[in-house]
Amino acid sequence: MRFTLNGTFRRIDAHPLKRLLDVLREDCALTGTKEGCGEGECGACTVLVDGAPVNSCLVPIAQINGARVTTIEGLRGRHPLQHAFVEHGGAQCGICTPGMILAAVALGKKPTLDQMKVGLAGNLCRCTGYSAIYRSIDAVTSTARRNRGDRKDREARSGSRTKKPRTRAGVTR
Ligand code: FES
Ligand code: FES
Repeated sequence: MRFTLNGTFRRIDAHPLKRLLDVLREDCALTGTKEGCGEGECGACTVLVDGAPVNSCLVPIAQINGARVTTIEGLRGRHPLQHAFVEHGGAQCGICTPGMILAAVALGKKPTLDQMKVGLAGNLCRCTGYSAIYRSIDAVTSTARRNRGDRKDREARSGSRTKKPRTRAGVTR
């Protein structure tokens, strides 16, 4: 079986009906993908296949041939959502967190609360009560918005400095 895993081409010699979840954890040693129910109910095993969230416990590896798979390791600990989940309490015991974050990545840049609720409906969390998860996702959007605003402010300020150079005493020349 051949597929691209977190940006790297992989060739795996496994039974075609072996679950993608098991291939990731056993053959690829990527244990960030968790098993909860093992029957498509909890979303703990969510990974992205060609950018869409799927329950890897339900997918035989044969269906992945030629596809692009992203696991939580593929975000390399640097995705803003990963930081936001830590800062805003979106992760507690952590079992649902890799799947939750990947499902959130698939929501795109500015999901509304309704879009979050629909997009994460297949991901169950026993710890957070969901508010902290929605807050974490929203924090990324708000930070991006704030950064854009700050950049515009800085550009506006540097524009006005160019036009009106000041002395140290603050007197316009
Ligand atoms: S472990 Fe796959 S949906 Fe629960
Ligand atoms: S953080 Fe524990 S199940 Fe979600």
